[in-house]
Amino acid sequence: MKAVILAGGFATRLRPLSCTRPKTLFPIVNKPLLQHIYEKLAKDGITEVILAVNQQTALSIRQQRIPKHGLTVKYSYDPPKKPLGTAGPIKKAEKLIGNTEPFLVINGDILTNFSYTELIEKHKQTNATATIALTKVDDPSRYGVAQITKDTRITQFIEKPPKETAPTNLINAGIYALNPKIFQYIPRGKAVSMEREIFPKLVTEGTLYGHITSDLWIDIGKPEEYLQTNKLLLDIAGSKQKTPRKYQLNNPAAIDKKVKIGDQSTIGPYAVIGRNVTIGKNTRINNTIIFPHTQIDDNTTITHAIIGENAKIGKNVTINKNCIIADHARIKDNTTLPENTSICPAKEITPQNILKTKNTC
Ligand code: GDD
Ligand code: MG
Repeated sequence: MKAVILAGGFATRLRPLSCTRPKTLFPIVNKPLLQHIYEKLAKDGITEVILAVNQQTALSIRQQRIPKHGLTVKYSYDPPKKPLGTAGPIKKAEKLIGNTEPFLVINGDILTNFSYTELIEKHKQTNATATIALTKVDDPSRYGVAQITKDTRITQFIEKPPKETAPTNLINAGIYALNPKIFQYIPRGKAVSMEREIFPKLVTEGTLYGHITSDLWIDIGKPEEYLQTNKLLLDIAGSKQKTPRKYQLNNPAAIDKKVKIGDQSTIGPYAVIGRNVTIGKNTRINNTIIFPHTQIDDNTTITHAIIGENAKIGKNVTINKNCIIADHARIKDNTTLPENTSICPAKEITPQNILKTKNTC
């Protein structure tokens, strides 16, 4: 069984962290999302993965050397500077996918423990061209929304309907089982949207089906959801970290290898500290994700924020709620970042220049 992972989007909602890494490589409790996806696919008996990406994303993924768990991983590229949307890349990968059996397509920004095997089984029971995994959410307006009959045929599919107009709260989970017939519906060599062009067509033909799931499901596409995803996994994993002697650890928290933490610091709850991070003395970090190789000095407080890779945070710094600090940024001593501040990659912020600029991106 083959699975296509769509991972060539631009992740604009996760800027400035996505300026330097694709969404699918964002760490979730210190492991790239793509690694979580590989593990789940392998567990469900998938043998081959086709990554539908652009060259830049492919390069970043290769550099990460993610364990493949026995999967064969192939790349299929969007043409340079011509993203193919969510359906175009499937047509582009037609030869790699083949036309002998149904295959899976999954969005590369989804974390789920939903059973792919069950979806494929369900798909085979009908004459569907596509079967979509559907999940219930409170606000469906940010997703593709489906209306479904008792026999699970989808009678309406609307991508991102205006608020309050969604016919149901059943949304497209970004996971599909597709019949090779689908290739006939997607024009070659151009950007095509699965959700806006192909699914509505299948609805009119009565060959789009849904499979409802209530399993864990989350799209990491926005900073708040990304933080939430990490929290959720921390809650599920429970606290595995031992109580240290010199600093205080409030579980749940995850501390990766080679992390150094100074005396009297307080880590957690809900802190994810990446590999090789250095934290000084008397520093407090909670509800925050720190990417690898970042240095944080003494007497600093970070709350409900995301700090990128290789950043340098000075002494007596306060980083408030919903701040996002991109890779290689430097926050100098005695700086206070107000809530909702975003700092661009490699930017240097001082107590003086922070007053002039709230967002550097
Ligand atoms: N190769 C390639 N080329 N991949 C792309 C492109 C492209 O041009 N555009 C987007 N993708 C990938 C993204 O990287 C992502 O993994 C996936 O396709 C979906 O794109 P998003 O930009 O994350 O879409 P969304 O979250 O707004 O909406 C989609 O997902 C929702 C579920 O999270 C839609 O499928 C909705 O209907 C769905 O409800
Ligand atoms: Mg998404």
